[in-house]
Amino acid sequence: MPSLPTGPVRARLFDPEFAADPARTYARLREYGDVVPVELAPGVPATLIIGYTAALEVLRDPVTFPKDPRRWEKRVSRDCPVLPLMMYRPNCMYTDGNVHARLRQVVTDGLVSVDPNVLRDHVENSAEALIREFRSAGEADLLGQFARPLPLMVFSQALGCPPDLSERLAAHYKGIFDGVDAKRANAGLTRGVAELIALKRQNPEHDLASRILAHPAGLSDEEALHQVLLLMGAGAEPEQNLIANTLRLMLTSDQVAGDVWGGNLLIEDALDELLWTDPPIANFAFTYPERDVEFRGVLLPADQPVVISFAAANTDPSTASGNRVGNRAHLAWGGGPHACPAKRPAQLIATVAIERLLDSLPGMEPAVPAAELEWRTGPFHRALTALPVRFPPVFGGTGDAHRARSGR
Ligand code: HEM
Repeated sequence: MPSLPTGPVRARLFDPEFAADPARTYARLREYGDVVPVELAPGVPATLIIGYTAALEVLRDPVTFPKDPRRWEKRVSRDCPVLPLMMYRPNCMYTDGNVHARLRQVVTDGLVSVDPNVLRDHVENSAEALIREFRSAGEADLLGQFARPLPLMVFSQALGCPPDLSERLAAHYKGIFDGVDAKRANAGLTRGVAELIALKRQNPEHDLASRILAHPAGLSDEEALHQVLLLMGAGAEPEQNLIANTLRLMLTSDQVAGDVWGGNLLIEDALDELLWTDPPIANFAFTYPERDVEFRGVLLPADQPVVISFAAANTDPSTASGNRVGNRAHLAWGGGPHACPAKRPAQLIATVAIERLLDSLPGMEPAVPAAELEWRTGPFHRALTALPVRFPPVFGGTGDAHRARSGR
């Protein structure tokens, strides 16, 4: 049976060089085909799928490529740096078959029940509150002061969190992001969500948490807790990067900026351009074949992660098309039974947040050259460390221009 090429080809996805220019690594790896060996952390091997059709084949075959990581977990050390993200949790992302179908139904039904107009209001309120904090300064870090806190503020409102609990959850989240005592912050987050579940069990309202609890699938409190934690975890990080990376594209690409301001490109199209060329979840959708599998002439060892590179698959030269406007066939939302169930709300949140920001702070420009922006290291997310901008300071109320234009 053929085997994976070894030696220098096993790309180290945790290196800062990879984070600084992932496209260069993908281009080098393409010489070896669609299925290539990588390391997710020192001594943690995996196979990365970088071809578009190969990626779709894996995503659509949950029998050969199941999601449960527990057999792999037995083989890695407890302090493996990618373990906290990849380890099993009883939620729809890490389960297969009927268990997955039951949990996912609750999540998709819950998300469908979120009224887009109400969600838009949540995003506008959150965006305005954040912009008020920095609009008179004439400068801001759009990642730390806007894109990062916004999704959590929106989710807290959609889930029906009372304000004091919402603030505590935000503080725990900040602890997790800052990596300061992340274990304690994680425990605090779990406690906070458990509190929310208990509250909504007692006093159900018209919010997402109450709908999850009332779903006919009849989740236990613990099952509900894990699905809510997943919604916040799976949502917050990619959402903040979708917002920040699209803003970066709009602020640093003359072509995109010109098309948006000239009315030739909608913000939704700018989002799609970003999702094609630089998706926020770059490498993800881990699966673990239960036995050795030969796939496209390459041996995939049993219980070793197979990871989809959405970023590389989207830019696969054998399928990439020059004209991307209106073409939504990218894989940034995943595919198959585990494809992101939150695509529409996620797009709405990003679109409204960006609209609000650009309307409130006209004349915004990057505060550093594009080449000086730094990317967080790590194999999975495409994430800036900061997005510094400057703009003419704004004093007084925000939003009047927007309301006048949209007639609302
Ligand atoms: C409102 C914000 C979001 C929420 C609540 C959310 C929620 C989720 C959930 C619950 C899953 C697991 C589905 C399953 O396993 O059946 C998922 C999967 C996924 N999401 Fe999202 N998501 C959000 C935003 C995003 C964004 C912005 C992106 C990137 C553009 C994204 C990309 C993905 C991908 C690629 C998967 C597949 C992961 C896999 O197969 O392992 N999501 N999302």
